[in-house]
Order: sequence, then structure tokens, then C-alpha cells
Amino acid sequence: MPLDDTGKASFDHVYTEPDPRPYFRALHALSYQLPQLAKPYFARLLDEYRAATGNADPTVLDVGCSYGVNAVLYRCDASMDKLHAHYADPAAQDLDRDALLARDRALLRDRDRDGDGGVRFVGLDTSAPAVRYAREAGFLDDAVAADLERDPPDADQSARLGRADLVISTGCLGYVTEATIARLAGLRAERRPWMAHFVLRMFSYTSIAERLASLGYETVGVPGVFRQRRFASAEERDSILASLRAAGVDPSGVETEGWLCAELHVSLPRGADRSAAELATALGGVAEQSVSVDRYQGQP
Ligand SMILES: C[S@@+](CC[C@H](N)C(=O)[O-])C[C@H]1O[C@@H](n2cnc3c(N)ncnc32)[C@H](O)[C@@H]1O
Repeated sequence: MPLDDTGKASFDHVYTEPDPRPYFRALHALSYQLPQLAKPYFARLLDEYRAATGNADPTVLDVGCSYGVNAVLYRCDASMDKLHAHYADPAAQDLDRDALLARDRALLRDRDRDGDGGVRFVGLDTSAPAVRYAREAGFLDDAVAADLERDPPDADQSARLGRADLVISTGCLGYVTEATIARLAGLRAERRPWMAHFVLRMFSYTSIAERLASLGYETVGVPGVFRQRRFASAEERDSILASLRAAGVDPSGVETEGWLCAELHVSLPRGADRSAAELATALGGVAEQSVSVDRYQGQP
């Protein structure tokens, strides 16, 4: 598998397929699990946001949302294993896109969660096919296909993205830099969104935190290291371990165990109803309470 400019295996070929089956096939093979680990943290983030602001129906913007993975995990009380099984099911293999969409809409209808508490999910991704699918399946309430690294959002995109009360991401920062994040933070200066991003340790969050600080944000890291996925090859492992060491990050006992690993950063506007430090402390409590985190983090 070819490596991209950052030294990671490139999965670009599965990001732009018309439906999520190739995405889940390719990433499940490498035990991709970050959204599963992130799920209880995002659930707590929403609880904290509601409690702090009194806004019971917040809008969440998922940057690099792909096929709406974080939204469907939250909405359907699903797990990554369950979603992979859903798409790998022999009954799903011969379906055309429309039939798969119908099956996915049923997944939402049959969800075992008692509704999703009124939360709206908006997705942003460069992949038009991925966000179109997520939108048509009902995983996302709204979606924007755009590359804000390259271009500022137009008026329509600004209005839709600017509704976000919270901005989250898994597995996307690195592709996305402070250029995109600052553009999103700048859309609604009078009430800037809270942010929570899971970022691979090979990518520094410093430049994003500095840019956000210039817009009045404070950033705090949440304790914990989260396994994103296994290395795709010995070549990728060697390249990532070298990058980490060059960046002054010691991979011993973390990435050397065979996994790309991420950390969680929260950035909140100063003067928000919670401070970034208070939020990080609250999210730090998730690890002790979350069975799925223990289960997944404990896996060799
Ligand atoms: C590893 S996937 C993560 C998808 C999803 N968040 C998850 O964790 O399953 C990275 C995603 O970032 C998207 N992406 C890459 N460059 C981007 C950009 N400049 N702006 C928004 N999304 C981008 C890709 O299309 C892809 O869907």
C-alpha cells in the first residue's frame, strides 16, 4: 500500500466510493477503532454542552465525517464491529446503492437508542460521494463537500457550517490543518463553537491551538492515548516511528506496540459556560466509566 506525504498508508481510494462498504472493509482489516473509542467522549461532550449552555438540541459539525461514521455510531448506539458486520453481511454484498441506502435507513429506524436527544449532525468532507451517502441514509442532517484547506467557504456553506455549536473530528486532523479549523471557528464570532479533536500523535496540535488562541480559544489535552488502527505494513510502521522520534515524541510502549495512536484535545472559547480545563477534567472521567474504551484499549 502506498504511503502518503505524511508517511501514512493512503486510503484515499476508499474515501470516495459511492457507498461505505469498501471503507469498512479496508479499515476493519486494520482494526480501525478510533470512532468507537471516541464515542463515549463525544456523548459526554454533548452532555456537558447541554448542561453548561441549556441548549438541549445542539448542532454538531463532524470534520472529515466520511460516510457519517461518528453520527451513525451516536445515533444507532452502534459499534464499529457492528457497522462492519452490517456492511460485510453477505446479504449486503449484491445490493446496489439504492438498496443499501434503504437498508441503512432501516438501521436508523430500528435504532435501540431512545432517539438522539434532538442533536443535529452536519458533516464536512472533501469526498462528495461519502457525504452524499451519509445524507441520503439519514446519518447526517446536513453535509458540505468542500476543501477548506484550499478555499474559504462560500456564503451558502458558511451559513450551514456556521450553525455548529460543537466541532468534532476523528482521524481527520493531519489532512486538515489550522487553515480549516480557523475558518470554521471564524464563522460565528459572537458564539464560537466548542471543539474536540482526536489527533494522531504524529501530528502536532500546537499550530491549531495557537491559531485558535488568536481567536480567543483555550486548549487543554484530555488524559489518555487512543489506538486508531494497526500499522498497514512494516514500511508504514518504520516511517511513523521515525516521524514521531524526529518530532520529539517517544513511541516506546505506545506506537511500538503496532498501533497508530491519537490524543484528544479540547478547545473552548474563553468566557464560554465551561472552561477548557473543566471540560477536559469531565472528559477525563469517561475512561474509568467506559466499558468499550477498556475493551478496545486493552486489545493487543
Ligand atoms: C481516516 S478518514 C476518517 C473518517 C471518519 N472521521 C472516521 O473516523 O471514520 C479521513 C477523512 O478525512 C477526509 N478529508 C481529507 N482531507 C480533507 C479536507 N481537507 N477537509 C475535510 N475532510 C478531508 C477524507 O475524505 C476522509 O473521509
